[in-house]
Amino acid sequence: MSKIHAALTGIHCHLPDYVLTNAELEQMVDTNDEWIYSRTGIRERRILKGEGKGVSVMGIEAVRGLLEKTGTDPSEVDLVICATVTPDMMFPDTANLIAHALGIKNAFCFDLAAACSGFIYALSTGAMYVQSGMYKKVVVVGSDKMSSIIDYTDRATCIIFGDAAGAVLLEPSQEPVGVMDFMHRSDGVGQEFLHQKAGGSRRPASRETVDNREHFVYQNGKPVFKYAVTGMSDIVQKVMKRNHLSQDDVAWVVPHQANMRIIEAVAGLLNFPIERVMINIHKYGNTTAATIPLCLWEWESRLQRGDNIILTAFGGGFTWGAVYLKWAY
Ligand code: UT7
Repeated sequence: MSKIHAALTGIHCHLPDYVLTNAELEQMVDTNDEWIYSRTGIRERRILKGEGKGVSVMGIEAVRGLLEKTGTDPSEVDLVICATVTPDMMFPDTANLIAHALGIKNAFCFDLAAACSGFIYALSTGAMYVQSGMYKKVVVVGSDKMSSIIDYTDRATCIIFGDAAGAVLLEPSQEPVGVMDFMHRSDGVGQEFLHQKAGGSRRPASRETVDNREHFVYQNGKPVFKYAVTGMSDIVQKVMKRNHLSQDDVAWVVPHQANMRIIEAVAGLLNFPIERVMINIHKYGNTTAATIPLCLWEWESRLQRGDNIILTAFGGGFTWGAVYLKWAY
């Protein structure tokens, strides 16, 4: 029997309307557009406003659009995986809430938490269910409402993050397209540099944790920066070597959008022309699990069937990895 491939057959994203500019951040903390743009490459980011609106609001819109675009009936979906570190609630999972809102009734659903690597972890996990022959329609969503865990008095973090969601459909194909290979890694050494101090079982929410502002993202940016550059460039090289891909064979590199300087450094170490690196960090900042689908979605009309694409991400945990994707349409 020939191998079943997991083809990515559609993509759709959702961006909230509100645009948080560097100029507005200048009114909120001691920062300025020049510092933010030169140190991160970010000009603006989107924020989901509105009482009672959780991350599922964006995930639902991304998946709704995906199902419409691909002509998929909700009853056909077998599995929904939602990559997020900002779920609506600790439980039930956001994937479950998305499925419920859209009438996806014949699926099992779960969340996957791998911070900024969430989308590529979830994509490769979903691909395995398709490649095994078990499932025919798998929805992978990357959705984060980072504004819900950002301290807008902390200039070191509030300038970086934004909110968004992106969703893809994976379906079986006899042709060699879709998720061709992946390599992922995790290292708990990273917990020290990037974490949320309270709200989990180690330090449950209390008056004290709220007073101490411990429910927000804590980041020591410099070490994260260094690990991110080394981690992504190293793992992309390994995946390319294993698949006998040279720089010329790869149409696009799609890096997680955390910092323009990280993206440039990774492209430099890979000796890969920056013109073939997808970059939209200036418009959306770091949307955690949504950065990679946001890039693919914006570039969709320029992609061609058979294009070799390398996705790579690095995030809290630490978590990192690379996916070799062959564009299917
Ligand atoms: O996506 C998940 C993984 N996360 C990442 O990949 C993020 C990796 N790290 C980074 O992107 C960068 O480290 C940051 C953008 C977070 C920070 O940039 P940096 O160049 O590492 O700055 P820094 O933290 O070393 O701070 C340099 C200076 C400091 O002032 P002094 O001590 O030199 O006087 C900061 O206080 O810049 C100051 N600073 C700011 N100034 C204006 C820090 N934040 C700001 C700010 N506006 N928003």
